This record gives sequence, C-alpha cells and structure tokens, in this order.
Amino acid sequence: MDDKLFMQVDEYISNLLAPVDDVLGHAERTTHAAGMPMINISPVQGKFLQVLAKMCSAKKILELGTLGGYSTIWLAKSVPEDGKVITIEYNPDYAEVARSNFEFARLNHMIDIRVGKALDVLVELEKEQMAPFDLIFIDADKPPYLEYFQSAIKLARPGSVIVADNVIREGAVLDEHSADDKVQGVRRLNQWLSGNKAVTATILQNVGIKEYDGMVVAVVN
Ligand SMILES: C[S@@+](CC[C@H](N)C(=O)[O-])C[C@H]1O[C@@H](n2cnc3c(N)ncnc32)[C@H](O)[C@@H]1O
Repeated sequence: MDDKLFMQVDEYISNLLAPVDDVLGHAERTTHAAGMPMINISPVQGKFLQVLAKMCSAKKILELGTLGGYSTIWLAKSVPEDGKVITIEYNPDYAEVARSNFEFARLNHMIDIRVGKALDVLVELEKEQMAPFDLIFIDADKPPYLEYFQSAIKLARPGSVIVADNVIREGAVLDEHSADDKVQGVRRLNQWLSGNKAVTATILQNVGIKEYDGMVVAVVN
C-alpha cells in the first residue's frame, strides 16, 4: 500500500459521503488566501465528527483551535437549529477570517468564537457554567494536550464524546526520546489515557489526503 492509494481512497470516500459544498470550499479558499496554514481537517474527518455528534445527539459542542473555521462549520452543521458551538482561537486574525466564514455559511447565530489562549478560555467557560458539552474537539497547540483533555472532562458529562486530533504524528509518537514538544505533548496524553478510568478511549490511525496521523476518540464514563 502506498500514499497514492490512501489518497485515492480518501477522495473516493469524500466524493461519496463527504462532498465539499460551497460553504466549506469558501472556508478553505479564504483560509488559503489569508496566508494561513492549511492544517484544517479533511472532508472525511469532518464527516466523521458529524457522525460522532449525531451519535451522541450533540446540541452543545466545544472546539479548541478554530483556524479559518473549516471544522467548526462541519460541527455546526451537525447540531439542531437551537444548538451551539463554542470555538476557541488564539490568533485574532485567524478568528476574523473564521468569523466571516461563519457569516458566509449563515451559521454565525449558532457559533460563539472566543479569542484567547485555550487554557484561559477553558477556565472562563467553567466559571460561566457553560458545561456540559456533548462533544469536545481538541485541535489546538499540542504541548498542553493532556491539560486540554483534563479540562474537557470537567466540561463534559457521562456519555460526552471527546476527540483529540494529531496524536500519532506520522508515527513519531513511537519515539519516547523525541525532542519535538508536539510529539511529547501528545505522548503525555496517550500515556495518561492508558491508565485512566474517567473515559473509555481508543486511537484511530488516519490515512488519506492529510499527513499520516491519528485521533483519540473517547467517551466520558
Ligand atoms: C490545527 S489548527 C485548527 C484547525 C481547525 N480545527 C480545522 O480543522 O479547521 C490549530 C489552531 O489552533 C490555534 N492555537 C494555537 N495555540 C492555541 C492556543 N494556545 N489556544 C487556542 N488556539 C490555539 C492556532 O492558531 C490554529 O488556528
């Protein structure tokens, strides 16, 4: 098996089950045009998040790491009209691009974008008693992934789903001596999960149009 086959199959699945509509295409184009990194999830991963959201009848979703709002749009489209997505972005310029994409998608009434460091905003959300969220998608900076996950549990309820992206990093997680703080960040989370009773968790390897990686998928016990 090679990368080309993984890409072709990813496109095959995407064409069948996760077609990119005008709104999602627009979000990708504006992200690119603004010179932002194209590190959003893929269409098939967006559809995967939607399936998870529907499985847990999500009405309230929390996302860490907005970028241009591509994954946020997938998530917002998975909740009912009176549902809500709160998404956290550190970079105010990125947040501005995302905000205009939410308006273009006519989803701005259901998306609350918070600009700031995720660790600070998570504390604010706790104080504001915004919990519980039905689904939490962690996709911000990697070094504090364990702290993000632990905060996510505090903002969840039994049965809430927590997903954390990019925890395999092309297999670099196998290197316990890695000097990469992103690798060490996700390794801390993966290791912590192995002995933890608060969630039932696994890691799915992802291949396709994005780099070889993986996602933690967990449900709160
Ligand atoms: C991988 S991108 C998010 C991609 C997005 N979820 C998608 O799939 O469309 C990670 C984002 O996290 C943001 N970020 C980095 N550090 C952060 C922090 N401490 N708090 C909040 N956001 C942060 C980055 O600016 C970037 O936009």
